Amino acid sequence: MLVVLMGPPGAGKGTQAERITKEFNLLHISTGDILRNAVKEETALGLQAKQYMDRGALVPDEIVVGMIRERLARPDCAAGVLLDGFPRTVEQAEALGQVLESLQLKIDVVINVDVEAEELLSRLTGRRVCRNCGATYHIKFNPPRVRNICDHCSGELYQRSDDTVETVKERLDVYSKQTLPLIEYYQRKNLYYAVDGARSIDDVFADIAAYLQGKQ
Ligand code: AP5
Ligand code: MG
Ligand code: ZN
Repeated sequence: MLVVLMGPPGAGKGTQAERITKEFNLLHISTGDILRNAVKEETALGLQAKQYMDRGALVPDEIVVGMIRERLARPDCAAGVLLDGFPRTVEQAEALGQVLESLQLKIDVVINVDVEAEELLSRLTGRRVCRNCGATYHIKFNPPRVRNICDHCSGELYQRSDDTVETVKERLDVYSKQTLPLIEYYQRKNLYYAVDGARSIDDVFADIAAYLQGKQ
């Protein structure tokens, strides 16, 4: 199964992806995570990407498409994949179509987690992420058992550098202008499924899981 998970910044893509990939045995591929890792490792890609990410802009299509092309060609993708945060422009979606065709794969469903802007702002500014295992928390909505310590691995929690009020506003703006057109793009291909993301993490997951059960 190949699932595309889309939605505005802070909608809960990463949170839901953790659960969906476990439940349905899919490989979680997040372009945001791959890019953040490259920034951390200070690779050439990371140094280039950082300039865009820090101001809330999208990294150029050719860089992200190249990354995804290379990732999807690896054998561990055969069992099934969940794409989180890719594609994000119509150009990326077109390129993904070509990459998948060359690998004789196709998208089964595009799930869009929808949440309104005001809620997204408080979700993102309150987010904390484990430095060690990447698990995601929220200081109010999904707090760790011990403040600033990961429940799973006791790692230290940190705040993403693009989770400031100013950068979040820019990311939301970029989303409306560059990513929203994708909804219509996938609706026309009959692949689109919208989920109301303004509910509890459990309720959103139950909705997505029930839908995916029917697709298997
Ligand atoms: P990326 O890492 O993909 O960030 P994003 O799309 O902005 O989304 P987030 O990861 O911030 O949010 P999320 O939806 O995963 O929410 P989460 O589950 O964490 O991209 C970062 C940057 O990389 C981009 O700005 C761009 O520069 C670059 N990039 C990445 N992909 C690219 C591409 N394809 N092309 C070009 N550039 C690219 O949840 C958020 C918070 O809310 C957490 O605290 C969580 O605990 C809480 N929460 C989750 N669900 C709920 C709920 N139901 N109720 C209450 N709280 C909740
Ligand atoms: Mg994420
Ligand atoms: Zn951890």
